[in-house]
This record gives sequence, C-alpha cells and structure tokens, in this order.
Amino acid sequence: MSQPKIFITRLIPGPGLNLIKEHFPSPKIWTHDLPPTREQLLERVRGVDGLLCLLTERIDAELMDAIGSQVKVISSMSVGVDHIDLGEATKRGIPIGHTPGVLTDATADQTFALLLAAARRMVEGVDYVRAGKWTTWHPQLLLGADMVGATLGIVGFGRIGQAVAKRAQGFDMRVIYHDPTAESAYNAQPVDLDTLLRESDFVSLHVPFTAETRQMVNDQFLSSMKRTAILVNTSRGGVVDQTALHRALKSKQIFAAALDVTDPEPLPMDSPLLELENCIIVPHLGSASKRTRDQMSLLAARNLIAGLKGERLPHCANPEVYK
Ligand code: GLV
Repeated sequence: MSQPKIFITRLIPGPGLNLIKEHFPSPKIWTHDLPPTREQLLERVRGVDGLLCLLTERIDAELMDAIGSQVKVISSMSVGVDHIDLGEATKRGIPIGHTPGVLTDATADQTFALLLAAARRMVEGVDYVRAGKWTTWHPQLLLGADMVGATLGIVGFGRIGQAVAKRAQGFDMRVIYHDPTAESAYNAQPVDLDTLLRESDFVSLHVPFTAETRQMVNDQFLSSMKRTAILVNTSRGGVVDQTALHRALKSKQIFAAALDVTDPEPLPMDSPLLELENCIIVPHLGSASKRTRDQMSLLAARNLIAGLKGERLPHCANPEVYK
C-alpha cells in the first residue's frame, strides 16, 4: 500500500517511535516541547490516515472534521480518554486507541508517594531545611499522620484503585472502597460513599472523569471527611471543585491534600492552592517512570499500526465501533 500519512503530536519515547518507523518510515512529528496550539493542530491533522495524540489534545467533532473521513485510527498515549469525544468517534467509525494496564503500577506508586508525602509533611520538611529553619530536633516539629491501622478509602476500584489497595496491605491499613461496579480484592471492603468519607483517614480518587464525576469532590464531600483526613487525587483534576478544596484546606476542615492532577493543567501560578502549606501539587506525573512511558509509547504505536493496517486495535477505548 502507499505510505499512509501519520501525525504524532509530540516526540514520544524511542521504543514506540521506532516501532512506528519500522512499519511507516516517515511519520510527521511535532517536535516542540509545548503541544501544538489548536490552530496548529487543526492544520497539521488535515488529511492524515493516523493520528497519535496525547492527553493534551482535545479530540472532538471539529478536529475529526479537520482530519477528514479517510482517517483510520486515532491513538492516544494515555489510559484516560476524557479528552476524546468517544461517541463522536464511534459515530464516524473511528477506532480510538489507549494504553491501559502498563501504567497501573506507576500510578499506584505515585498515589502512595503522595499519600506518604502528605501524611508525613515531606514537602514542608524539605522547605524547612532549605529555608535554614532547622535549629534542633524538636519533639513537636512537623508532626503528621500514621499509616498503620489507618483507614484508606478508595473511590473508584478499577485497576489503579486495586493496585493502591494492594500496597496498603503492606502498611497494615484497613481498606474500604466505593465502586458499585467492582468486586472486592485485597481484603478491601465495599461501602457506600458516605461511610467511606466518614471512616477514612485517607481518601484516594481513582474514578474516570465523566459527567457524573465532574466536581464530585465538592463542599458536601469535603465536609463529610474527618478533620484529620488527607485527600489524594491521581485521577483527573476536574473531579475536584478546587474552590471548595481551597476552603476546606484553609479552614483546616481536612488535614491536607496531595494532587497529581489539577483543572486546568498547568495550574495557573495565581491559584490560591499554591499558597497552602497543607497542599502538595505535582505536575501530572502519575505514569512518569522511564519504563512505563516506554511501554505506553509501545502500546500507542501498536494501536496506531493496527488501525492503519485495518486490523482491530489491541487496546480500543470504543470497541462498539467494531459492531
Ligand atoms: C494519564 O493520566 C493517562 O491517562 O495516561
């Protein structure tokens, strides 16, 4: 067949990129650090047969119009697909690829890193030393929360939520979860959301971002948590009402929060959340380990290649497209 036209919206890790080039030698790649602007994206995707994108690109009807009806596949190097209008893609017969599984452990590790960092006030400690405030060992300095015996409440018990539960076993935590669709695993006990919020010392969010989960962490959610509780979010920023979270942290209605994700991303530098000592924010690093990103690039490449060859995608986010 003649060479298909491919556009890749950023320089992805070598394993995935090399695999694509083995099959199709000349993909067009956006090599800048920052993603293409909307206008640049609409321009570059015109007429391509395959698009490999990241979660920074909004893939909606306008973009699908710009690509054209010849497109065979859109492959996202992400597990989450909330940046893609799946219904629209399905309607147009476009299979959407994503990268489940390979980032489960890295994201669960990141969740635990944030949980521990917030519990033991790690960032405040680092800032304290750097500011030259460390004058002695003080019996009351930067006291945090214990893990052993604490209750961890997991909201959304899919792959990543379960991997977090698995890690919690090693810390002798009690694990409860809220997810009407999930079976129990790792001794985690299913509970309703009110019970979870009332009983948890740590609340960790692992739900997909949908119309139902948008801003589910609101004033009511936060006021149902313990005053000593810590909120961890490695799902999507839009799940949390950040104004409500700011109020809850500032008034010490909850003890602390640790966020891997915000809305918007990047978080504007004038966000009041950045002024709070009891709020840790890192720049969406859940899957950011070398091996994980290599594997994500490989899965995204395999989806792209399969789609371009007219084969079923190994990891399709809208399998109904094949019906
Ligand atoms: C990261 O957030 C992803 O969806 O891959």
